[in-house]
Amino acid sequence: MNSFLKIDRKAGVGRITLSNPDAMNVVGTGALKALREALRDIQMDSRVRAVIITGEKHFCAGADIKEMKTKKPEEAEAFARLGHEICDLIEKMGKPVIAAVCGYALGGGCEIALASDIRLASQDAKFGQPEVNLGLIPGFGGTQRLTRLLGIGRSKELIMTGRIITAAEAHSMGLVNDLVKNEELLDRVYEIAGVLAQKSPIAVAEAKKLINETQDMEMGFENEIASFSKCFETEDHKEGIRAFLEKRRPEFKNR
Ligand code: CAA
Repeated sequence: MNSFLKIDRKAGVGRITLSNPDAMNVVGTGALKALREALRDIQMDSRVRAVIITGEKHFCAGADIKEMKTKKPEEAEAFARLGHEICDLIEKMGKPVIAAVCGYALGGGCEIALASDIRLASQDAKFGQPEVNLGLIPGFGGTQRLTRLLGIGRSKELIMTGRIITAAEAHSMGLVNDLVKNEELLDRVYEIAGVLAQKSPIAVAEAKKLINETQDMEMGFENEIASFSKCFETEDHKEGIRAFLEKRRPEFKNR
């Protein structure tokens, strides 16, 4: 356990809980590094056969905007690479990963859920890629993974408008596999993880790898990192961040 997350293990299931609820579990560099370490630890633990990622009160409201305020383009690139590394660890881990989403899953938070194999949402969950409001684009793989999941039309709508959607809408779009009552989220996710933990780990890992290999997103990921860091050169991005912190609407000037 550290100030960002908790890990626990029982009956072949490892659970990582983002546990900085007062800050809506936003992820700055420190939280991302803690998550990377937790994922590596769980990946190496042969007793763990299925993994749950969840958050206290909220899943994750995205990258820490206060930290991003001062980033130069090259620092933004390093930050995006770290986020991509985490999403890659989740997607390429030879174990099934389930995201159990309550509260907000926005920006980088939504992208962590998208990298998971199965998404379960409680009724209070809300999803979105609102980066456009900050003069930004998704930076942890969202442009590729949301499109893979929802198709071009819905993905463009969500990423280009930044609209936040309810759990019911996310379910009807296919962004989440299932929707449960708030108080049933943990029981249900452990039920699914328990089923996965009893299957042949080799067969589950092979199936996951082959399904992932139906989509080659490497070039899209690299292009996304480049575009994400390029946004940090713009006035619009600075205005987007200022407006968020000043709790007002941004006035974008196209420069
Ligand atoms: N980073 C830093 N602080 C954040 C934050 C974030 N992503 N999200 C919320 N907060 C902070 C707010 O600044 C506020 O802090 P103060 O109390 O100090 O003012 C506090 O959390 C509560 O937020 P609100 O007052 O706005 O609460 P709300 O209930 O009215 O709204 C919300 C909640 C819809 C999550 C809203 O805070 C919001 O829109 N947050 C921004 C979400 C966002 O844009 N995420 C994407 C970030 S960029 C990204 O993730 C890039 C990427 O792809 C990696």
